[in-house]
Amino acid sequence: MKAIQFDQLGGPEVMSLREVPKPELRPGTVIVKNHIITINFGDIFFTRGEYIVKPVFPDTPGMEAAGIVDAVAPDVTDLKPGMRVAYIGMGSYADYTRIRPSRVIPLPDYMSFEQGAALPIAMLTAWHMLHTIHQTREGQTVLVHSAAGGVGIAAVQIAKAAGARVIGTVSSAEKAALVTKFGADEVIDYETQDFAAEVMRLSNNRGIDLILDAVGKPTFEKGLRCLAPFGHMILFGRAGGLPDPLNVAKLMEKSLTVSAFVLPLIYSNREVMRRGLEHSFQLIREGKLTVPIGGTFPLAQAVEAHRFVLSRRSTGKVLLIP
Ligand SMILES: NC(=O)c1ccc[n+]([C@@H]2O[C@H](COP(=O)([O-])OP(=O)(O)OC[C@H]3O[C@@H](n4cnc5c(N)ncnc54)[C@H](OP(=O)(O)O)[C@@H]3O)[C@@H](O)[C@H]2O)c1
Repeated sequence: MKAIQFDQLGGPEVMSLREVPKPELRPGTVIVKNHIITINFGDIFFTRGEYIVKPVFPDTPGMEAAGIVDAVAPDVTDLKPGMRVAYIGMGSYADYTRIRPSRVIPLPDYMSFEQGAALPIAMLTAWHMLHTIHQTREGQTVLVHSAAGGVGIAAVQIAKAAGARVIGTVSSAEKAALVTKFGADEVIDYETQDFAAEVMRLSNNRGIDLILDAVGKPTFEKGLRCLAPFGHMILFGRAGGLPDPLNVAKLMEKSLTVSAFVLPLIYSNREVMRRGLEHSFQLIREGKLTVPIGGTFPLAQAVEAHRFVLSRRSTGKVLLIP
């Protein structure tokens, strides 16, 4: 089968398409034939050796895809060959990937592989920050950084569906138009405007209740300054670099909360997973949650696809087609 592999740490250029053996079925696993593979920002950290999971060379990047179950180990009872599924799991930039069943989500008929492939990471990261880590309710204000990206655009829609007033930040006018189309009440171009000053102006100097921040260094400190009393910041990424260490005593002034979030832990909790999936499927059925496709590349062009995401021009999900 074909797979992207790399055997040294670095940027997109370390990846290449190779012919490799199909993964063997092992006890307690399934093999999925990938139809749509999504690019996540974490894949870029993975090839650099900066992700929580470290590569073992030669390794295959990728952590999310949708496709069809190809083979099921005899001790796996709840999945069958032929089922349409999406999953979170390492090594998805390939024709076939071996996955643990707890990381596999059966897809309902009404969900395309494209939308299905945006569910395990982008949609569920946004959902669990807004409804598991925070309790987003009507009347709250939510600031979503990089709001035109995969997680960002899902977060805008899920926060709107919860009744919040949503402000997005983006780095271009095209992205601002897209985020407005997906329901944001206000969008700030944080390349040309001081987002904290704008947030204070838009909130009549009250500040914001919840900030979802995966940019890090350029946004974190400023974000703390524009939180409302009892406001909450969730740090869940660092596309712009790690923020400076936090002096917790500073949070006392406005009774602020700072949390951090990482999605894979959620998959270990069946009940929390069930709640996130049930509500996400409901929002999808009601037409309130959909992630636009911002680019499609053949698997062989994974290098170009990573460069596109790094260029900050991509929107929604960028896909690889095996
Ligand atoms: N903790 C978790 O479990 C978890 C799960 C999923 C994703 N994440 C994190 O969430 C973020 C979004 O992930 P995604 O896969 O949906 O990516 P994405 O938002 O679709 O793509 C990247 C976007 O990040 C923004 N960005 C800000 N600073 C950047 C920089 N220095 N270089 C490149 N891009 C920069 C750009 O949008 P603007 O230019 O408009 O800002 C860019 O378009 C990433 O930081 C990722 O690591 C975390």
